[in-house]
Amino acid sequence: MYVCLCQGVTDGQIRDAIYEGCCSYRDVRESLGVGTQCGKCACLAKQVVRETLTEAQSMQSALAYPAGFVAA
Ligand code: FES
Repeated sequence: MYVCLCQGVTDGQIRDAIYEGCCSYRDVRESLGVGTQCGKCACLAKQVVRETLTEAQSMQSALAYPAGFVAA
């Protein structure tokens, strides 16, 4: 889904940017240009960033435990 029409940025691109090392909306904006023109997408873009960061954090903490421990 397109998040930013001005720059043609999708939610998938935002997620990829986070998995590749961006750790805030600011990083994503600098790397993809999202929200740098009309700014209407900023709210949604921030939401996607927040959701993805939460997701990435829970994946990281799941990896910190052996698989058998998490399965219970
Ligand atoms: S829709 Fe993202 S800057 Fe305009």
